[in-house]
Amino acid sequence: MTSESVQIDTPQPVAPVQQFTQLLSATRRGARLARLLAVEQLVAWEWPRDGERTEAAALVVAELAANAVVHGRLDGRGFRLGLALLPAGRLRIEVTDPRGERGLPAVRPEDAGEGGRGLIIVDALAADWGVRPHPPSAKTVWAEVSAVRP
Ligand SMILES: Nc1ncnc2c1ncn2[C@@H]1O[C@H](COP(=O)(O)OP(=O)(O)OP(=O)(O)O)[C@@H](O)[C@H]1O
Ligand SMILES: [Mg+2]
Repeated sequence: MTSESVQIDTPQPVAPVQQFTQLLSATRRGARLARLLAVEQLVAWEWPRDGERTEAAALVVAELAANAVVHGRLDGRGFRLGLALLPAGRLRIEVTDPRGERGLPAVRPEDAGEGGRGLIIVDALAADWGVRPHPPSAKTVWAEVSAVRP
């Protein structure tokens, strides 16, 4: 894969208001920690701990982190969780894993017939999501969750 040939399917970049990033081990424990750290960070950003959007964000983080550990794992490498609070209360979740050559299914899960439930959950809870290359060899799966009910 050459970086020149890759289409980047991310929305126009928006300057985040606040950001958090953490490198984690590509283990079940690392995936669990991703979810716990995400909730703590959202609470630090004054999202209510038991709020519907906080729970939605936690579920999205959990599914993307689980996928990074199961499908995006490479020996000796970890994965990175990123959270960015955007204007208008949107939250962008990013999970970067080292298997850049392994894309996600080309179709959205609702079109995909048999498959897992992780991306179906992400698709249901996120306003938008996708994958983009993270040069030179990794990829970032991202999802956006709104902070308040539309
Ligand atoms: N980070 C990733 N890297 C590479 N492939 C991925 C990644 N995430 C998902 N996939 C691919 O997309 C498929 C669907 O993912 P999804 O999370 O919906 O299901 P699953 O992980 O197989 O099962 P479940 O999430 O229900 O345990 C996976 O089986 C895998 O082939
Ligand atoms: Mg999964």
